[in-house]
Amino acid sequence: MDFKDWRCLEEKVKSCKRCPLSLSVKNIVLGEGPIPATVMLVGEAPGAVEDEVGRPFVGPAGEILNRLLAASGLKRETLYITNVVKCRPPGNREPRPEEIQACLPYLKAQIGFIRPHIIVCLGSVAARALIDPEARITQIRGKIFCRAGIYFLPTFHPAALLRDGGKKLLALKDFKKLKALWDKLEKDLSSGVS
Ligand code: URA
Repeated sequence: MDFKDWRCLEEKVKSCKRCPLSLSVKNIVLGEGPIPATVMLVGEAPGAVEDEVGRPFVGPAGEILNRLLAASGLKRETLYITNVVKCRPPGNREPRPEEIQACLPYLKAQIGFIRPHIIVCLGSVAARALIDPEARITQIRGKIFCRAGIYFLPTFHPAALLRDGGKKLLALKDFKKLKALWDKLEKDLSSGVS
């Protein structure tokens, strides 16, 4: 799919009928944050609160995400935050493969316009869509992958920390790794290292 600019992408997403999720959605959640952005966070799909409000990660999982960011010295408003799927799957079920495929051109176009240096995949749906279709998040989290000049850092989905508090320390370690990588990129850019 071709989008001549961000506004065109926004319009196509807002009127999208490519999958049945469009029948039950209240508010399509495209994402929020600066464009361009050095870092992009990609979650799974909007939940109930996000569907009401039209913004990503503003419900319970968003609260955990905000705490992880603050504890790692990162400011939410400096990151672009979105999801693989832009419409809430009913009952918060996992998005189906055909829904992910229908929505993926939008995420790919967002990446093209936002031009991030680092993409954090929050959970296995994002990791499978962007890094490796066979990925198991428990095995790849915290590892840095480079694809087409972009660093990908997979970590647990914040909602997984609500279910299993034992994952919190590992997630925090991953966010601190993100901060360190970002700091290093900025330092290299300002000293002219390519
Ligand atoms: N879970 C997600 O994956 N994304 C959101 O925006 C909210 C909850």
